Amino acid sequence: MSSVPEQAFEALLAEDRLFPPGEALRGQANVSDAGVYARAAADPEAFWAEAARELHWFRGWDRVLDWTPPHARWFVGGQLNAAYNCLDRHLSSARRNKAALIWEGEPGDERVLTYWDLHREVSKFGNVLKGLGVVKGDRVAIYLPMIPEAVIAMLACARIGAAHSVVFGGFSAESLRDRINDAQAKVLVTADGGYRRGRVVHLKAAVDEAVKDTPSIRHVVVVRRGGGLEVPASATDGRDHWYDDLMRQASADCPAEPMDAEDLLYILYTSGTTGKPKGVVHTTGGYLTQVQATARWVFDLKENDVYWCTADVGWVTGHSYIVYGPLANGATVFMYEGAPDWPHRGRFWELIQKYGVTILYTAPTAIRAFMRWGPSWPDQFDLSSLRLLGSVGEPINPEAWMWYAEHIGHGRCPVVDTWWQTETGGIMISPLPGITSTKPGSATRPLPGITASVLNGEGSDVRAGFLAIPKPWPGMLRTIWGDDERYRQTYWSKWPNVYFPGDGAKIDDDGYLWLLGRVDDVLNVAGHRIGTMEVESALVDHPAVAEAAVVGKADEIKGQAIAAFVTVKEGILITDALKAELRQHVADKIGAIARPDAILFAADLPKTRSGKIMRRLLRDIAEGRAMGDTTTLADPAVVARLKTEYEGKES
Ligand code: WT7
Repeated sequence: MSSVPEQAFEALLAEDRLFPPGEALRGQANVSDAGVYARAAADPEAFWAEAARELHWFRGWDRVLDWTPPHARWFVGGQLNAAYNCLDRHLSSARRNKAALIWEGEPGDERVLTYWDLHREVSKFGNVLKGLGVVKGDRVAIYLPMIPEAVIAMLACARIGAAHSVVFGGFSAESLRDRINDAQAKVLVTADGGYRRGRVVHLKAAVDEAVKDTPSIRHVVVVRRGGGLEVPASATDGRDHWYDDLMRQASADCPAEPMDAEDLLYILYTSGTTGKPKGVVHTTGGYLTQVQATARWVFDLKENDVYWCTADVGWVTGHSYIVYGPLANGATVFMYEGAPDWPHRGRFWELIQKYGVTILYTAPTAIRAFMRWGPSWPDQFDLSSLRLLGSVGEPINPEAWMWYAEHIGHGRCPVVDTWWQTETGGIMISPLPGITSTKPGSATRPLPGITASVLNGEGSDVRAGFLAIPKPWPGMLRTIWGDDERYRQTYWSKWPNVYFPGDGAKIDDDGYLWLLGRVDDVLNVAGHRIGTMEVESALVDHPAVAEAAVVGKADEIKGQAIAAFVTVKEGILITDALKAELRQHVADKIGAIARPDAILFAADLPKTRSGKIMRRLLRDIAEGRAMGDTTTLADPAVVARLKTEYEGKES
C-alpha cells in the first residue's frame, strides 16, 4: 500500500479520544439535526436539489441527475452563472457593503473589497477579456501570486463563460507552457512578480520563457505587483498589456452569461501516475452546489465570520474554498500573499489577531511546522476570535490534530479534518461541527449526500483497503480535458461504476474513516500532489542521468519528502555539484515544490526480472526499514549494495 508504516495504522486505530460538539455550536450550527444523514441517504437527488436551490438559477433544471457511468450530468437543463452567484445576488441586501475580500500583502500592504467593489472589478475585467477576443467556451490561463486580481480574474472568466486554468505561481515556465498548450488558452493573466519571504518572485520572466512556445496565446495581461519591474520588450508587439491600462478604459457593465449547468467552469491540472499532469474538468451547476453547501455546512459560515483558507488559489482548495464556496455564501474571505514564517514565525497568528479571523482552514504540514516552532509563537497573540479550525490536504496525525486544537483552538474550537481531492471538487468526508464527535486523525464520515466505502481489489467491503466512492456526486470531475479514456482508466476501471480516488483507508468499529495516503505512484509533499513519474522524467532529462526512480520518504513536517535514486551515464563523475545541479534541474523543469530532498547515486536500480523498478524496496531503503521480499528481483545483490550506499551517504 502506501508508505505509511504499519505501526502508524495501528496507532491510529488505537486512538480512542472522542470530542463531542462544543457548547457554542450545539443547536446553533448551520447543520444541527443529525437526521440530515438519513434524509440525504433516502433520496440523494432530492437532497442535492434542495442544496442547489440555495443558488440563483436563470432557468430551473429538468432533471437532477443523468448517470451514464462513468459520466454524470447534474441539474440537466438548468442555467446559472457562478460569478453571478458569488457577487450579484449579494448586492440587493446589506451584503452589498460587506467586505468580500480582506487582503494583506507580504510587505504589509492592505486592501478591502466589498461585494460591490468586487462586482465592479470583476465586471470590468470581464469586459477587458472580451475586448481581447475571449468568447464563451474559451480558456484563459491565470498565473498570479496571491493577490485580489487572482480572484477577480477567475470570477471574470466565469462571468463571461470562459473557463479558467489557474497555474500555481510556484510552477516553472515549462509546467506553465505545457498547461497552456494542453488547454489551448487564448489569454494569459499574470503579474510582473509577487512577494515571497521578502523576495520578489519574477513571474513575468517565467511567462516570457513559457510563451515562446504557446501558439494559442494571443494576449498577456500583466498586473503590476512586483515593485515596479518593467515589462520586457514583448510589450511593444501588442501581445503584452498592463492590467491597469486595460481596466482604466473598461466599462463596469458586464452582464453575467447564462451558462448551462454542465458548461465548463474550469480546468485544473493535477499530478497523476504518468509524467503528464491531468486537466481535471469541472462544470458549473453541480460544482457550485457542492462547494456552496459544503462551505456552509462544514465551516458553519455565518454572516459575521472572517474566514481564512491559507491555501494558494492555484490549488483546488483555493478554487473551492477561497473563491467559489465562501463567496457563494456571501462570506468575508481573508487572503494573505506570503509565507507563515516571514518576517517571523508568528505571522499567521498576528494576522488572525489583527483581522479577527474566526475560521482557519490550513494543512497538516503547516500545523506540524507550527508545532516544531513551539507554542510561544501563537501564545504572543490574541486568538480568541477563532471559533472553528479546519485541516486539509493530507492525513493529519493525532499529535498534530491535538496540538492544533489545544494551542490554536484553546480547546474552544472544533477541528474539522476534511478529505477530498482536485477531482471531487468539494469536501467529501468531514465532520459536521454541530453534530459529529471527532476523533483526532479521522476525517470521520462522508457528508450527507455522499457515499464512501472501504473495498479490497475485488470490490468487497473490508476494514482496511482502498477508499471507494460508490455513487456520483455533484462536484465530481466530468472528465480529463482532452482524454476521456484516461478518465475512465484512472478512476473507473478498478471496480465497475465505482470511483477510485487512489487513497488507502481503514474503517473502525464506529464507522469512522481513517485516510491513509496514496496507494499509487503519487506523492503528497507538504500537501502538494507530485507524480513520481514527473520527477523521474525531469531527472532523466538531464544529460548526466541514465535512469531515475523516485519514491516518497516519510517526513516529520512535510508528510512525505522526495527521495530520488539515480544512475548516471558512463564516464560521468559523481560529485556534490552534480547532486545540486540535478535538484535544481527538477526545480527548473517542474517547480520548486518538486525539488528532491535527497538524491542517491546508485550503480544499479533494483528491478524485477521483467524490468520493473521495485519502488517498494527503494522506499524501505529511503526510510531505513528492514527490506521486504526481494525474491522477485533480477539481481538481489543490487539492493544490498544500494542499502549500504544509502546508509552511508544520505543527503
Ligand atoms: C489527495 C488529493 C483536497 C484539496 C487539497 C489536496 C490527500 C487530502 C486529506 C485528508 C487524508 C487527504 C489524499 C487525496 N488528502 N485531504 N483530510 N486526509 N488525506 O488536493 O492535490 O487533489 O490531493 O490529498 O491523498 O487523494 P489534491
